[in-house]
Amino acid sequence: KKVLFVASECTPFVKTGGLADVIGSLPQALQQTENIDVSVMLPLYQEIWDNWQNQLTKINSLPLNVGWRKHDATIYHTTHQGIPFYFIKNDYYFSRHGVYGYEDDGERYLFFCQAVMEALKVIDFEADILHAHDWQAGLAIAFANITPPTKQLKTVFTIHNIKYQGILLKDAYADLFNISDEHIGGLEWDGLLNCMKSGIFHADKITTVSPTYAEEITFPFYGEGLDSIIRERKNDVIGILNGIDLNDYNPNTDPHLNTKYSYSRIKKKENKEILQKKLGLKVDPEIPMYVMITRLVEQKGLHLVQAILDEFLNENVQFVLLGTGDYEFENFFYHAEKRNKEKLVSYLGFDEALARQIYASGDFFVMPSLFEPCGLSQLIALQYKTVPIVRETGGLKDTVTPFNEYSLEGNGFSFKNYNAHELLEQLKYSLSIYQNEEKWQALLKNVNKSYYSWDDSAHAYADLYHELHQA
Ligand code: GLC
Repeated sequence: KKVLFVASECTPFVKTGGLADVIGSLPQALQQTENIDVSVMLPLYQEIWDNWQNQLTKINSLPLNVGWRKHDATIYHTTHQGIPFYFIKNDYYFSRHGVYGYEDDGERYLFFCQAVMEALKVIDFEADILHAHDWQAGLAIAFANITPPTKQLKTVFTIHNIKYQGILLKDAYADLFNISDEHIGGLEWDGLLNCMKSGIFHADKITTVSPTYAEEITFPFYGEGLDSIIRERKNDVIGILNGIDLNDYNPNTDPHLNTKYSYSRIKKKENKEILQKKLGLKVDPEIPMYVMITRLVEQKGLHLVQAILDEFLNENVQFVLLGTGDYEFENFFYHAEKRNKEKLVSYLGFDEALARQIYASGDFFVMPSLFEPCGLSQLIALQYKTVPIVRETGGLKDTVTPFNEYSLEGNGFSFKNYNAHELLEQLKYSLSIYQNEEKWQALLKNVNKSYYSWDDSAHAYADLYHELHQA
């Protein structure tokens, strides 16, 4: 079986979020543990061209019409860690700064998906299954179904986040491709053309990145307006948890750490001391350190943190935040640090090495998301033996079990409602467990046993491909 991944980002080429980590690690897992041939197709952004052009080979140039516009899609190829990559180059659409956020994003990815169809006819990879990810690739599923490029492909559409849908004005869009009116209904939602809905409507199978999220998006609160179509397709929707690359996220080999460790708490504390010094916090490895590494957007539960942070900082704790994002939250953390210089560091930027050092130094990883399709940071935190404190939603619920101080089960702390005081309560509760040596050790033992590699998930995807292939 040959599977073509279509996506808008992938490490190490281009990354804005967790999607890139998944596209950058799942193909290897499928190849190595399940013997499935995977190739990946991406847009060739300026950033990729700047950093990788020496390693890319041009394979073909195809003329493409987007409405009245005549464009070229030039296909480039490279192999990275055993996986073939194909890039679609078009300077008008993709030689821009950054990745998303342009007014014509809908048209850009429409072009990309059309180019994917054309590319399928000429690349040296005869796919059996098209596996597209998130709205940017949703139309590839629709096109493959309506106007098959070669043979009829089986299709899988993975929803990493249903909030972002790729919505275009219908008339702006209708003249962009040659699809007869009878098919418009499958692409349209609420009178607009919707790339996410198109993928959901047309895919043979739909997956999301955790079982709980698969359930949640059948309800209006999480469905972002698409819950009814998810309910209609419920029999074809399955949740498969993401994994992480345990070789990459390994505190025993991580080149960014000053002191490597596997289970040793003493070694972990050495990392904390070094970080405290580096960030100008009081150097004392006994002070419990709470950390957050996150995009600063509403999804990540920052309104809850905003409401209770000052109160929590009355405790003898330290708090370190790393991330960038919406002005509202950057501004909040900037000023919160000014008010709490001794205890809070807000690093409003991104720095991979520092992120790894923070994972390694923290005692607790705070992630109170409003919704979380899977979440990878809590999995990384567990790898670095940092105890997650999460809201019970999506993948957070599926990977973090609340610690029970009587049965001594559980690998973290969690709360149910989107309520700042439930978060505060868990923060304080976690502190009381930290101060109780026996219970704290029991909790750490469970954390040490929490591994979320790709093995099980790759197997679940392999089963799904197999089932489709047989059908
Ligand atoms: C999106 C989701 C996140 C998930 C990631 C990878 O970024 O918000 O929860 O882990 O995709 O699937």
